[in-house]
Amino acid sequence: MTTYPPSDDFVKRAHVQGLEAYRALYEQAKADPEKFWSELAQKELSWFKPFTKGLEWNPPFAKWFTGGKINASYNCLDRHVAAGRSAKTAIVFEGEPGDQRIISYQELHRLVCRFASVIKQLGYKAGDRAIIYMPMIPELPIALLACARLGITHSVVFGGFSAEALKARAQDLDATLVITADGGWRRGKEVALKGAVDESLEECPNVRNVVVYKRTGSDIPMTAGRDLWWHELDQKLNAQEAENCPAEELDPEHPLFVLYTSGTTGKPKGILHTTGGYLLQATMTMKWVFDLSPEDVYWCTADIGWVTGHSYIVYGPLSAGATSVLYEGSPDFPAFDRFWDIIERHKVSIFYTSPTAIRALIRQGDDWPNKHDLSSLRLLGSVGEPINPAAWQWFYKVIGKERCPIVDTWWQTETGAIMISPMPGAVPAKPGSATLPLPGIIVEVVDTKGIEVGNNREGYLIIKQPWPSMVRTVWGDPKRFEEQYWSRVPGSYFTGDAARRDDDGYYWVLGRVDDVMNVSGHRLSTMEIESALVHHPAVAEAAVVGKPHEISGQAVCAFVTLKKGEWDHKALQQELRQFVGHEIGPFARPEEIRFTDALPKTRSGKIIRRLLREIVTSKGAPVGDITTLEDMTVLASLSSQHDDD
Ligand code: WTA
Repeated sequence: MTTYPPSDDFVKRAHVQGLEAYRALYEQAKADPEKFWSELAQKELSWFKPFTKGLEWNPPFAKWFTGGKINASYNCLDRHVAAGRSAKTAIVFEGEPGDQRIISYQELHRLVCRFASVIKQLGYKAGDRAIIYMPMIPELPIALLACARLGITHSVVFGGFSAEALKARAQDLDATLVITADGGWRRGKEVALKGAVDESLEECPNVRNVVVYKRTGSDIPMTAGRDLWWHELDQKLNAQEAENCPAEELDPEHPLFVLYTSGTTGKPKGILHTTGGYLLQATMTMKWVFDLSPEDVYWCTADIGWVTGHSYIVYGPLSAGATSVLYEGSPDFPAFDRFWDIIERHKVSIFYTSPTAIRALIRQGDDWPNKHDLSSLRLLGSVGEPINPAAWQWFYKVIGKERCPIVDTWWQTETGAIMISPMPGAVPAKPGSATLPLPGIIVEVVDTKGIEVGNNREGYLIIKQPWPSMVRTVWGDPKRFEEQYWSRVPGSYFTGDAARRDDDGYYWVLGRVDDVMNVSGHRLSTMEIESALVHHPAVAEAAVVGKPHEISGQAVCAFVTLKKGEWDHKALQQELRQFVGHEIGPFARPEEIRFTDALPKTRSGKIIRRLLREIVTSKGAPVGDITTLEDMTVLASLSSQHDDD
């Protein structure tokens, strides 16, 4: 297979130059991980008080950098201002309607201090929890950093989630503060947010305040005593208060944020990340993977509602002192060249996006990118799902002009930072492989018993040793944390992904082995959608599987049995789609709903999803072992149905 080594020019200025340099660093980390990470933590982060112990490991619970005092917001802002980088641009913001803001580190520091003062005056303090539900505007990272400054644990809820999903998260976290906006812009339309907040808070009595940023200026109801306008609170600050909001000196294990992600049960898991270790790896990967240097203009197109936005729009780039682009809207508005136009105008040099976005843009043809000068680019990145070789080649040729290395980055909400990816100046790429693990990351491919399967064999991907940015627990449910991640292969972290290692030691991540789907790079649980569907009065049973999809990787396909009655199937399909949109969010709506009299089950009554997956994949009868199936006639009826039934 062809490999793609970086050009000599790229290597010459890279942080890590050549495969030997990578291997040396990897071996150094492997020999003494605690020492390796401790030295980096001292060097790369600013501490109020130095730590005394690198790692305390009581499997599966880790504590990194015990005894130290640190603050993430300080590391993202104050230390750059103190080091003479105040005038450097931190955020280049572009709203979907075309409005722009260039925010320097000094200005960002000022804005974060002001907003931290606002929420401090409302009585919020370290240990409290805030839900953030906002569009992709500068006030979103400002809200995160203001919380971090005070030690308030934040949980960002992606703007595409519904009121129901928002409520479940606010309740699970026992949040007392919500930060939101009247709305945001997407595809030329206003996306309303405040209505969902109001609906969700009917059952969240512990939320005392909702702070609302005015983005669109549309008329929204404000509940007296609870809802407050951001700009009004800001205007009330006196100059002295606003300027003076020192970052709290926090324990490195202080909870920085909780991010909910789909697991194998109906209820999303609150993945907890803490301060010191998380920040260290978010910062290091900016250098190792994105090869960041002071003159780069970096752009990650993810939404801050997902982990990629946390680590690679907010904490990683700002802690590393990058100039980072923040774009509010959709890639196809007002036309299919919005991405290429932004890259040209802002001279983006590092561009990090998803295979889904790439595939959607390929479809629109090469004229769109070819109209633009993309010569500022020097590095491309991909995340969220395996990138198929055709999409890789297009990205490499049409966007990168065969000049820019591509970093295919494998990681998860739980890992906090990139785990497997080429160091672009060191590791030659192979299209479709995330290549080699980063220093300090020991991965293996194992069988069901936890034994290594050897090269070129498919197995479960596990991580063998604790790493600083690892998930600390599932919020409020340490048992679930242990069971989900640490019990399959005792002592190792179970990723839930299948993978294969080739003879060069390169890893090929093949996809999930559990009931988690990956739709447009968004993680969705089959169980979560099934439990939404069975809430509908017409539905008796539901089984959901992922179906291969040309653009989004997978699409949601639901098999539904109905309660007794006369149903208009076409109307009901529409209604059920809407219903899932209401229960979870529009992005979780099934693309396909098939009605059936029965679902394939084992004799003990378990739905055999494997068979359903085969049906949607092969469009014919399943070929695998069906001996455990209770009622054989079910299969014939299911596989004879077509998409438009
Ligand atoms: C998948 C997103 C192949 C994988 C950062 C993982 C990938 C899940 C890649 C995590 C990649 C992510 N190649 N698969 N480069 N990146 N995945 O938590 O299945 O939203 O387990 O984190 O996405 O999704 P999550």
